[in-house]
Amino acid sequence: MKEAVAEKLAARVKDGERIGVGTGSTVDMALTKIGERIKNEGLNLQVVPTSLQSAWRCQEIGLTVLYPAFNGELSWGFDGADAVDSNLWLIKGKGGALLQEKILAAKCNHFVVIVDDSKMTDDLSKACAIPVEVIPEARMIAERQLERLNATGIELRPAVGKHGPIITEAGNIILDVTFKSIDKDLERNIKSIVGVVESGLFIGYANEVIVAGKSGIQVLTPG
Ligand code: A5P
Repeated sequence: MKEAVAEKLAARVKDGERIGVGTGSTVDMALTKIGERIKNEGLNLQVVPTSLQSAWRCQEIGLTVLYPAFNGELSWGFDGADAVDSNLWLIKGKGGALLQEKILAAKCNHFVVIVDDSKMTDDLSKACAIPVEVIPEARMIAERQLERLNATGIELRPAVGKHGPIITEAGNIILDVTFKSIDKDLERNIKSIVGVVESGLFIGYANEVIVAGKSGIQVLTPG
């Protein structure tokens, strides 16, 4: 299913474009498909990736990488997601790149999300925790304030292969936070906490969600 959505996304890319590229396995698959088009059609593309990992993948397949200095707007960009609801609100950041991903989503005039149908949910709050990127020295106050926002669970994300927490590309920690319910003010309320840099709750960013399921591909737009 990931392959189907990746192919659909890769078919949209046009020669000479400058586009934003997210992070994750679905994005990786889309890059593989874009790489095939580069080989077969000699496309020339500039990209702004959201992580070192994506930057390296983009380089491997022959894309011109503008990273991290590019600071302008992008006509469009694409990324995966961890959960998507019927309003096209998203939870992102399982791969730890939520800060760069939100900056990218804000830079893109058209932000396309690519997922398989296992990511679709009726209730975002039940689907997965919201990653919250926090400046390390603000951990305790951020946790206290998140509790005041009725967080039901707060987990410090551990690193793999290193003792202690994961450290993001911007030098911060990640708290994975669950809530009983998610409303339209939650993204803003989390962001208002001192020491919080960004959250992986994306309300109103997706202009299009391409979903691959057993019965084919569906393209969803905000209603
Ligand atoms: C990275 O930080 C995430 O936001 C990814 O976009 C998200 O986890 C989706 O990843 P997969 O495509 O690997 O499921």
